[in-house]
Amino acid sequence: MRCKPLILALLLLVSAAGDGSVVAAGPKLGDNNGLNSNKHNLSSRNAANVTYAASPGDALGRDTQICIFCHTPHNSSPQGALWNRKDTTSIFGIYTSGTLIIRRAGVPSSYGEPNGSSRLCLSCHDGITAELNVLGNILGNSPIAFPAGKEKITGVAAFDANKVKKGHHPVSFVYDGAVLGQIQADSLKSTQGYQLPPENDPYVKLQKMQGKNWMQCTSCHDPHQNQTAETTYPAGYWQERKIAPFWVRGATGNATTDHDDVCKTCHNITKYSTYSTAWPWP
Ligand code: HEC
Ligand code: HEC
Ligand code: HEC
Ligand code: HEC
Repeated sequence: MRCKPLILALLLLVSAAGDGSVVAAGPKLGDNNGLNSNKHNLSSRNAANVTYAASPGDALGRDTQICIFCHTPHNSSPQGALWNRKDTTSIFGIYTSGTLIIRRAGVPSSYGEPNGSSRLCLSCHDGITAELNVLGNILGNSPIAFPAGKEKITGVAAFDANKVKKGHHPVSFVYDGAVLGQIQADSLKSTQGYQLPPENDPYVKLQKMQGKNWMQCTSCHDPHQNQTAETTYPAGYWQERKIAPFWVRGATGNATTDHDDVCKTCHNITKYSTYSTAWPWP
């Protein structure tokens, strides 16, 4: 009985894939019954050209499932939606900059080590977890086997402490009226148009946890569907990307609009008429 919500959701995901949405959208998790799907389909049956897929022949048949690598219908970890991952033991630190308000003493952002759903992403993406079979390391059972050398993520998609600290947007902080007020009170940032996402924004979501709203990886990324049709990472020119991968937006097929609209939900940069070096954006 308890499997029902997940099965229903799977049907929803599959039908969402067939809604006729436009242009460069890439494969969704449920496409073609999951047989030709995106990089978060770690099933051994995923016939797309992905680097990481489970080894076939698991005695319990787990290698042919899709959702199991992240979700379980029961006995889940307390950190997220029916989550099926062992926690990462890595210590990441936080992204900092000279102008970042959320890290300042007295700002009630609770900004610290990645938590909540971001931590769940990092249970696969940390790239440095010492244990073997990181990708198949699910809760409450033996790990699902991956081919030798493919048990953990290496390369550009790996998030070690360095990338969390320097290479990506800050995550795992409370973003509410009180925090926003303090950002706006800063003389430098008062002109920047910081704002909260609308309460029921269909794209940019804050995670509700401990009675607060948190910015997480999932505020920008939707781990279920991939809007980019790329199968390999670009060599170095961001222009080669159709849109950021696993992006929460992608309906227009315009990579620039779909990318920027996510940022503009919180950073109302239309306040600026011209590009200015006065922008305190690192
Ligand atoms: C790569 C990891 C990953 C995989 C694989 C995955 N999910 Fe999720 N899922 C998540 C995360 C993370 C969340 C929480 C999203 C959030 O907090 O916004 C989530 C949330 C959900 C939710 C709650 C509603 C929502 O969207 O927030 C449902 C339902 C769901 N997933 C269904 C599925 C089904 C069905 C599958 C298999 C077809 C699946 N998921 C595969 C990571 C995954
Ligand atoms: C079960 C393991 C697992 C979890 C959990 C997971 N990922 Fe991934 N993710 C992968 C793998 C494997 C790849 C492919 C890496 C590669 O090919 O180099 C990937 C790739 C990606 C990519 C790049 C995709 C592309 O097309 O280039 C993004 C973005 C991403 N993940 C975001 C997330 C976010 C955000 C979360 C948490 C909500 C998350 N992932 C959770 C395994 C996972
Ligand atoms: C503010 C929005 C935002 C947040 C929050 C965010 N990302 Fe990203 N992410 C992006 C964008 C934009 C790209 C595309 C970068 C590019 O194409 O150069 C990206 C790219 C990626 C990639 C592909 C590899 C790469 O570096 O290009 C992975 C994997 C990824 N993100 C995972 C995560 C994880 C894990 C988290 C949480 C720790 C996270 N992201 C939080 C916006 C975000
Ligand atoms: C859910 C809201 C939200 C979204 C979406 C979002 N941001 Fe942010 N961003 C913030 C908040 C809040 C801060 C912290 C500001 C502070 O503490 O000074 C921040 C910080 C930053 C900073 C660092 C500023 C500094 O002073 O160090 C940059 C750069 C940035 N965001 C760029 C982006 C880009 C680019 C995107 C889209 C890919 C994006 N943001 C999406 C809310 C968001």
